[in-house]
Amino acid sequence: MTAKATKQYEAMLAHYRWAAERRGFTVDPAQRPAVERLSRLAGELARPGLLVRRPPRHLYLWGPVGRGKSWLVDTFLDGLDVTRKRRLHFHDFFRRLHEGVATHTADAGREPAGERVAAVDRAVDELLGDCRVLVFDEFHAHDAGDAMLVARLFRTLLDRRITLVTTSNYPPAGLMPNPLYHHLFEPTIRLIEERMDAVEIAGAVDFRREQRPAAAGPADGVPQRFARGARLRTGDENGLHALGLTPPAAAEADEVVVHGRPLRASAVREGEAWFGFAELCEGLTSAADQLELAERFPTLVLTDVPPLAAATPDGRRRFADLVDVCCDRDVRLVLIGADPIDERAPDEGLLSDLDRTASRLALLGSA
Ligand SMILES: Nc1ncnc2c1ncn2[C@@H]1O[C@H](COP(=O)(O)OP(=O)(O)OP(=O)(O)O)[C@@H](O)[C@H]1O
Ligand SMILES: [Mg+2]
Repeated sequence: MTAKATKQYEAMLAHYRWAAERRGFTVDPAQRPAVERLSRLAGELARPGLLVRRPPRHLYLWGPVGRGKSWLVDTFLDGLDVTRKRRLHFHDFFRRLHEGVATHTADAGREPAGERVAAVDRAVDELLGDCRVLVFDEFHAHDAGDAMLVARLFRTLLDRRITLVTTSNYPPAGLMPNPLYHHLFEPTIRLIEERMDAVEIAGAVDFRREQRPAAAGPADGVPQRFARGARLRTGDENGLHALGLTPPAAAEADEVVVHGRPLRASAVREGEAWFGFAELCEGLTSAADQLELAERFPTLVLTDVPPLAAATPDGRRRFADLVDVCCDRDVRLVLIGADPIDERAPDEGLLSDLDRTASRLALLGSA
């Protein structure tokens, strides 16, 4: 390593110690290999003459929920002495990519498949600009549509002078767990295995569920997300009152138009919207719709939440997406009804995502 690289490497190690201390914890032994590898990456990114050399190898951090992967990559990005750096969340990125592809395909009229690939590349160009380090948090793939886009995306990213750092709950070989589509994704898995270094983070505890007071401690440069929402039983007026919320009056029923479609809300107020589980999770909403709501309303209240075992598989998926985007955007999510996770049903390839949901819900205060 050059002196500059060594300096950046050591600075990043120190940054991790500092960031953990600010939150009142220490780097867990299970996190140390990732801290070491990310710090080395910080050093590699500081190498002079990077323009004429190959960019450093990409990283793929994976492991069970709540082990600190997002904290590790957020802290990395925060401490990285590089200006052209970006963090994107899976759902957000996909929504923008779909929108970009739709625009470019519409521009070009009716096009053969090759043009669609070009549209993906142009959309990726627009999204990433001249970014040099891209953190892609909570990467997963579930349907055949994802397979094509993700395949193209990874080719484009890996062929560019970008260093990609992703986090996932799945090892590369376990991506796209649905056996119907898994084979569609195998070329991408091979590409990931060839071009990315996989680092597993599998400590014994889910820090969210362990609920150390430190984990919800004071915010530093890296946001502590999702600690302001709550879970309440139906009819718990005191609980609502404590949150500064008033139950909607019948006259407040309204519509929220999302991506051109009206959604029924029981109230739409300044910075706050109330929806029933049936409308938001059992209706035909997409993760992109949930994301738009999360961007528009700092507080979202979801009423009539059933135990997830009683919801449809699609309803469970949409609920998981909603919790994901609200957590990522730090929306105050208030769930009213049953404990969603109480008696959850085993599900097709979704277990890991529902684990993620359960882990995030542990951050919400309960009645
Ligand atoms: N070493 C640690 N000790 C205690 N708490 C920690 C530690 N590392 C991270 N945390 C805290 O644990 C919580 C969960 O971390 P994080 O969100 O990064 O998990 P994750 O691995 O990304 O989970 P998921 O797979 O569900 O996205 C956060 O509040 C984070 O600040
Ligand atoms: Mg995470």
